[in-house]
Amino acid sequence: MLIFLGVVPLQKIIFMHSIGDYQKLFSAHLESLSLPEQPERLFEPIRYILKLGGKRMRPVLSLMASEACGGSAQDALAAATSVELFHNFSLIHDDIMDAADLRRGQATVHKKWDSNTGILSGDALLVISYQQLNHYNKDLFQSLTQLFSQTALEVCIGQQMDMDFELQTEVVMDDYLEMIRLKTAVLLGCSLQMGALAGGGSDQTAQHLYDFGVHLGMAFQLQDDYLDAFGDPKTFGKKVGGDIVENKKTILYHLALQYATPEQRVELLDLMSQNPADEAKKIEKVKTLYVQTSADKKTQQQVALFTQKAMNSLDQTQLESQAYQHMKAFARDLMHRTQ
Ligand code: IPE
Ligand code: IPE
Ligand code: MG
Ligand code: MG
Ligand code: MG
Repeated sequence: MLIFLGVVPLQKIIFMHSIGDYQKLFSAHLESLSLPEQPERLFEPIRYILKLGGKRMRPVLSLMASEACGGSAQDALAAATSVELFHNFSLIHDDIMDAADLRRGQATVHKKWDSNTGILSGDALLVISYQQLNHYNKDLFQSLTQLFSQTALEVCIGQQMDMDFELQTEVVMDDYLEMIRLKTAVLLGCSLQMGALAGGGSDQTAQHLYDFGVHLGMAFQLQDDYLDAFGDPKTFGKKVGGDIVENKKTILYHLALQYATPEQRVELLDLMSQNPADEAKKIEKVKTLYVQTSADKKTQQQVALFTQKAMNSLDQTQLESQAYQHMKAFARDLMHRTQ
């Protein structure tokens, strides 16, 4: 007999996991993924980046969404793998585009091998990520693929905007927010919506979870921008100051311009349109301006604001399961992350 508590069967509550358990379940599943051995130069970089780990945030969101909708975490494992592989593909290519040498505390794929290797391994990883969806029946496969393809295209658009903005000094804040929605936030929304669909959730719940993910993704990228300048090199896993070197128009840059004196404004615009040989000096000067204008503190306020928006979307789902509580805790923790 199924005993209901709110809208969730008690049977499911007994088997609810902690956030750590979702991570373990997913990691074990990912380790069981078998890749061809040859050609070694195509598949070894994929094994390499997957072994570097990472927070596994997107797949955990998929598994939680499935459970929150009354399905099991297992129902969403294939979808979760799909999004995590896609994410890793995007990182390999992103590191080439951002000329980044460090990822998850280790050499990036294009640094360890070369850019051509990064391009093709990334392409193969993208294909493998789509293959995971073959696990689902025809109807589910179709809705998942549609959502996933739409999201993947949006990520490409966001990435192109990010690159375009490197070359522009005057970037409008709203365009920046749209850029991060596309390059980062929609994939978190997609992870949750795919999990919800795999777990048999209603379209309406899946949509609210998507909105939760998008707001959370915005907060997440704002925090990523913050950490890129003010993170601890020991825990961040990426080069601190990398965005400044690449003239990235991050939230810090926008807020600094908004609150700068005319002199500070000229200095910042000037610094962020150059590529000087002395990178350390540029990083130091730009960070000083970020602190003087309180852009650092105002960024933290924006992170809190988008996290609150995420919580509001989550409340609209009217889910009351333990997975829902995990999602709330997850969103709160993300605000204070250091990596
Ligand atoms: C990095 O994402 C890319 C961004 C969207 C900022 P994560 O910070 O989730 O990377 P890993 O997977 O934990 O390394
Ligand atoms: C990454 O944005 C977005 C994608 C990978 C699609 P960033 O360039 O800020 O990510 P990191 O900081 O390199 O992880
Ligand atoms: Mg990058
Ligand atoms: Mg980038
Ligand atoms: Mg970044």
